[in-house]
Amino acid sequence: MTISLFDTETPLAPLREAIQERVAAVIEGGAYILGPEVEAFERELAAFLGVGHAVGVANGTDAIVIALRALGVRPGDEVVVPSFTFYATVEAVVTAGARPRFCDVDSATRNVTAETVRAALTPSTTAIVAVDLFGCPAPIPELRQLGLPVVEDAAQALGASLDGERAGALGDVATFSFYPSKNLPCFGDGGALTTDDAEVAEVARALRFHGSRDKQSFHYVGYNSRLDELQAAILRVLLPELDGWCEGRRGAAEAYGEAGIERYVTLPALPAQAEPAWHLYVVVHPRADELIAGLSERGIQARGYYRVPIHRQPAMGPFSDGVMLAATDELARTNMALPMSPVLAPEQAQAVVTALAELT
Ligand SMILES: Cc1ncc(COP(=O)(O)O)c(C=O)c1O
Repeated sequence: MTISLFDTETPLAPLREAIQERVAAVIEGGAYILGPEVEAFERELAAFLGVGHAVGVANGTDAIVIALRALGVRPGDEVVVPSFTFYATVEAVVTAGARPRFCDVDSATRNVTAETVRAALTPSTTAIVAVDLFGCPAPIPELRQLGLPVVEDAAQALGASLDGERAGALGDVATFSFYPSKNLPCFGDGGALTTDDAEVAEVARALRFHGSRDKQSFHYVGYNSRLDELQAAILRVLLPELDGWCEGRRGAAEAYGEAGIERYVTLPALPAQAEPAWHLYVVVHPRADELIAGLSERGIQARGYYRVPIHRQPAMGPFSDGVMLAATDELARTNMALPMSPVLAPEQAQAVVTALAELT
């Protein structure tokens, strides 16, 4: 038996025909860039999240760059950002012209907190980027009380909620990736940003199209960063499935719990009132790499994430002098993602836990 880390194929299988029909219709229609499919997807995503505006862009990295610039972040500004995340979160801060100020995370939730962010603030800080890591919402409402605009990097958290509000509706702006392994995948690269602020949405729309609103006058030096019609058409087929898929992921997390996984590894602490999207099911063990090797011998895929945290990456040298992030370093060493998907069966969860029992 092989149990893979993700299963992106099985949930899509019943939708293949519908996807092919929509793709054929777009090809037939002949509009490929910023047409009716993107407009409709933007409306449907905004409605799903309960926010005023959604802007489709080329990928989740550009979504952060554009979000920061639309919020008014200028070259030389500082932006507080966690180091324990995918590299793109911080890369986007630098691409927007700002200096990243690395903050630590809470070792139990793996997310930033108001305290860890506050410790990194300086008079030059003009924004905060918080990540809903592994699909669990960060405490964005508390971060917003710090008085700076918050970008919620919800690339891993579409379908999650906190206190009844969807991840992606929590920050001043939220950003998403539709990379094929994400909870809402497209068949290539894709991304979006969402906001309740009409002015921010308007600037973001211009920035994604070379800084122009009308293709005639160019107000900003922007980007060529558009979600394309084919991807939007596919996303429109998949969005109505997302809540069901997230339920499947929550069921898989419950199955791990029922199989007694907590006896062998440490699970994330979930904030009260959080419904995680379980993009990844990440546990902690002091001998994580040894367990990953043992699981692999038993046909079970597992993987450590962000083993070298971003403040220790070579490209971040100019921004990481004297930075000490104890919880980040510890989590980077001890985390491991176990198989997770909307269709992970209870027997598979049981097999993973049985293997962990043998290995610990
Ligand atoms: C937390 C986080 N932020 C940003 C990104 C960047 O998204 P993309 O690959 O679509 O540029 C990703 C994923 O790839 C991510 O996991």
